[in-house]
Amino acid sequence: MTHPSPQSRKGIVLAGGTGSRLYPITLGVSKQLLPIYDKPMIYYPLTVLMLAGIREIAMITTPQDRPQFERTLGDGSQWGITLTYIEQASPDGLAQAYLLAEDFLDGASSAMILGDNIYFGHGLRDLLQSADQVTQGGVVFGYHVVDPEHYGVLDFDAQGQVKAIVEKPTTPPSNYAVTGLYFLDGTASQRARSVTPSARGELEIATLLDSYLQDGHLQVQQMGRGFAWLDTGTHASLLDAGNFVRTLNNRQGLQTGSPDEVAFDNGWIDRAALAARSKIFAKTTYGDYLFKLAQE
Ligand code: DAU
Repeated sequence: MTHPSPQSRKGIVLAGGTGSRLYPITLGVSKQLLPIYDKPMIYYPLTVLMLAGIREIAMITTPQDRPQFERTLGDGSQWGITLTYIEQASPDGLAQAYLLAEDFLDGASSAMILGDNIYFGHGLRDLLQSADQVTQGGVVFGYHVVDPEHYGVLDFDAQGQVKAIVEKPTTPPSNYAVTGLYFLDGTASQRARSVTPSARGELEIATLLDSYLQDGHLQVQQMGRGFAWLDTGTHASLLDAGNFVRTLNNRQGLQTGSPDEVAFDNGWIDRAALAARSKIFAKTTYGDYLFKLAQE
């Protein structure tokens, strides 16, 4: 393996796939552009990467959905970031993202987030920034769920060390799912080249992570119960996620998943740029929120 490059970490949002579990809604529109209350789903994972301090981000979409993503997100300059679009012709697995993004990454370490994963919690920025400090190997997050069989699941040995990650096991070895956020070093694309398709024909993220695990280079951090990691995979969970965001917004009067706010907090855009953004959304409570933020 070549040594990880000293460039700063780059981001990948994986937002392809067919969305077939949300048919008929997703027959005509990408799942990751559906609303989570007041913003498109894709805003939430994008904001997570921005919270981690990442400014160079590749958006992986299907070829047919790419124009809608470009219309929704542009080139990222409104948030002081750079967005690059990469097409995935068919959903051949999460690990394929590292092959498609190989030129974009150019040997840099990365944080990949699934475009349908939503995170919320006190201390999220710290958790992300500590993962960003890990320059060799990988960091993934374990989260206690009621239905681990639907996810990649952590298998622990007697000492409590992770010995394997098992994708959608019929008999889950624990209740800890691996969330869809992967901090990997600059060897990820090289390692992804050795991943062969699974029985279901996909280049599995679990196989890529196993390559790190076998080398003793995978850290698993627990994302505790104070965090919400929400699924948006079914009609019911999509609605639940929207209601969750609405409840928070109504009660706190604060936003979650706003790339505009995080860009401003990070000092990547100034007050004038934030105010200009707020004008675009002037007819919405989201626009009002940004407007007030720009005045404070
Ligand atoms: O959400 C976390 C889980 O995500 C992990 O625990 C699993 O280990 C991981 O395999 C993945 O499981 P899913 O069942 O959620 O994977 P799914 O095939 O639904 O893909 C997740 C998202 O990634 C989905 O919104 C579509 C997108 N995707 C998926 C594939 C396979 C792509 O953009 N391209 C792809 O090739």
